[in-house]
Amino acid sequence: MLSALMHVLHSESLQCYNTLALQAQARALVRVSSAEQLQQALAWAAGRGLAVVPLGEGSNVVFAGDLDALVLRLDTRGIDVLEESGDSVVLRVAAGENWHRFVQWSLRHGFYGLENLALIPGTVGAAPVQNIGAYGVELAPFIRRLHCIEVASGEVCTVLGSACGFGYRDSVFKHERRDRFVITGVEIELSRRGRVQADYPTLAQALADRGIRRLTPQAVFDAVVDIRRTKLPDPEVIPNAGSFFKNPVLDGARARQLATQFPGLPQYPQADGTIKLPAAWLIDYCGWKGHRDDGLGIHPEHALVIVNYGNNRGAALLQLAGRVAASVEDTFGVALEIEPRIYGRSS
Ligand code: FAD
Ligand code: EPU
Repeated sequence: MLSALMHVLHSESLQCYNTLALQAQARALVRVSSAEQLQQALAWAAGRGLAVVPLGEGSNVVFAGDLDALVLRLDTRGIDVLEESGDSVVLRVAAGENWHRFVQWSLRHGFYGLENLALIPGTVGAAPVQNIGAYGVELAPFIRRLHCIEVASGEVCTVLGSACGFGYRDSVFKHERRDRFVITGVEIELSRRGRVQADYPTLAQALADRGIRRLTPQAVFDAVVDIRRTKLPDPEVIPNAGSFFKNPVLDGARARQLATQFPGLPQYPQADGTIKLPAAWLIDYCGWKGHRDDGLGIHPEHALVIVNYGNNRGAALLQLAGRVAASVEDTFGVALEIEPRIYGRSS
């Protein structure tokens, strides 16, 4: 039984629920603003044999067709200080909070560490799913634990940060725990000491260009916001999902071989001896940047961003992505992996 305050929308269009503005319908959609409502919604779906899809702001999903599921739009709010000791503070943040607004809140309160992750779209609850990262910082080390509700049982549980299997754009929520939990809150540990991480080359350059000598968290935040505004299209203006592919990670020998074959190919050595290559460079080299056809395209300023100029069909967008990936594979022998989660592909 759903509470009178929760309204199930049937055959609801998802176009305004995803930043690619793709057209698709959900069999049902409900907006939940408390854990109790979420448990009721899970029971409602279970009673009808319906799958559930938790959704934040839809900035990392591709709707390739209709979703035969109950979409749970998480609208929960709240930031609580759980502990303060010495330099450290532990916050519990509701899954539905907007990520960037939370980063702004933490800076305002003198809680530091997340400034490099400014302006990443989406919700706090989705952030651990792919371990968001940018400008030399990933979310993983800040996460103490996650508060979840198990989809099958409706039971409340917690998952320690150390059990999340975080990696580059990766976590257990994309693998063995995929679709099994709805994250309702995230415990994040921040510092009162403003020790900044500003050695990521684009960031270091932007700070130097501004003549900034005193590297404060606010200066890093401002620089990251500026870089992102110049590099990436605003989904409100041109619908997109940010980087469409992950940057491929190769073993050192293979990457060095490619560097000899393709002079100028940037290489980012990783701590484990592997080398990450910029997918944008590979796609750009294949001539895709600025491509535009049939209401879809590759952004003229950034080759890793696929944009929807009005086609609105996820299946067509995936076809374009497939052509891009095939040309990269033909040219470099490197397979690209799609970053956003794809839904509704079979319909
Ligand atoms: P959604 O797209 O709504 O969901 C993504 C996935 O997480 C879905 O599978 C969904 O089911 C699942 N999910 C969502 N909420 C929950 C929950 N509470 N519990 C369980 N599962 C859940 N990402 C980066 O890492 N770095 C970047 O620099 C970056 N830049 C971007 C720039 C642009 C312009 C855009 C459009 C995207 C960018 N992204 C980036 C990707 C995106 O912002 C992140 O993946 C973000 O965390 C997605 O949040 P969301 O609320 O929109 O998630
Ligand atoms: N490049 C090109 N052509 C382009 C764009 C970039 O050749 O059109 C080359 C340049 O050599 C550039 C390099 O690619 O130096 C890397 O580009 P950029 O600095 O823009 O970073 P990225 O590797 O494309 C990654 C993340 C972003 C994150 C930034 C900053 C992935 C898949 N993407 O992008 O995350 O914001 O670094 O840290 O790891 C996202 O996940 O949606 C996202 C935007």
